[in-house]
Amino acid sequence: MSKVDLSVNIGSLKLRNPILLASGTVGYGSEISEFIDLKKIGAIVTKSISLKPRKGNKPQRILETSSGMLNAIGLTNVGIEKFISEKIPYLIKQDVPIICNIAASTIEEYVECVKILNEEEGIHAFEINISCPNVKEGGLQFGNNEKMVCKITEKIRAVTKKPIIIKLSPNVSNISDFAQVAKKEGADAVSAINTIIGTAFNIKNKKPKLKNITGGLSGPAIKPIALAKVFEIHQKVKIPIIGIGGIMNWQDAVEFLIAGSSAVQLGTVNFIDPTASLKILNGLMDYCKENKIDNISSLTGSYQLD
Ligand SMILES: Cc1cc2nc3c(=O)[nH]c(=O)nc-3n(C[C@H](O)[C@H](O)[C@H](O)COP(=O)(O)O)c2cc1C
Repeated sequence: MSKVDLSVNIGSLKLRNPILLASGTVGYGSEISEFIDLKKIGAIVTKSISLKPRKGNKPQRILETSSGMLNAIGLTNVGIEKFISEKIPYLIKQDVPIICNIAASTIEEYVECVKILNEEEGIHAFEINISCPNVKEGGLQFGNNEKMVCKITEKIRAVTKKPIIIKLSPNVSNISDFAQVAKKEGADAVSAINTIIGTAFNIKNKKPKLKNITGGLSGPAIKPIALAKVFEIHQKVKIPIIGIGGIMNWQDAVEFLIAGSSAVQLGTVNFIDPTASLKILNGLMDYCKENKIDNISSLTGSYQLD
């Protein structure tokens, strides 16, 4: 059989394959590039960046749970200036498409960040983080308010022609309503899901285990929830979806594609095995060959309901 075509289109964003690295789990690329050749993956989504550097929350900020982890990092990042002068040049050298994830406390800050980064040729697309559960301002207060999502998308669309991906929160009743708003205001795609709010207590001293009290749950524990959210969006809204949540192996990735994703992002698995993305990519390729699929994008939304 001829070679499998692994390339995917996510709106106007064309990628060599559907395996992306999720924001916040591989820093700005230099950490993971010791383990994998970044040239081989579809794209890297960089750690959420804000206009000014952010220290994030105090420790304890990370915790292992049954089949997952809780994090309350609080968007620690180097700020836009250092990102442009140090992090982007490094990633450009790695020859990997860069999707820049942006977090902000106000609509104006989102717009300002996109305006500045829009000038950077190395950036292929923006992922807008409106769904971080671990900050007081600029996280879920945007992500679970349809009017805010509408305004943010509209204002960002006005200042860039690059693809815009809105990263949706699972901590809402109907995620597809938010995908609909993003589509209406001109987003190219949505990514789903960010982490789910969770907490844990120490039974000896009865204190919360995380300094921030709550954190975001990720890893295999959230996979069925994430799949259901992807499926809901796919059923209700015609917009490309990047599936995220608990993907640990190639079988999980295939499941997300079948449920409606055009591409997937890998998060927590990078902490367990930093080479997982390449293994998953190889597994996807073999799956396509065995099943005589010559174009991986034909898997997207290929579920059979009866
Ligand atoms: C330690 C950690 C830090 C994260 N930081 C960010 C972030 O800065 N911005 C963001 O949009 N998502 C962030 N996320 C969420 C992931 O990108 C992803 O949406 C989530 O972890 C679910 O995928 P997973 O189950 O494969 O990890 C973070 C996740 C973890 C575990």
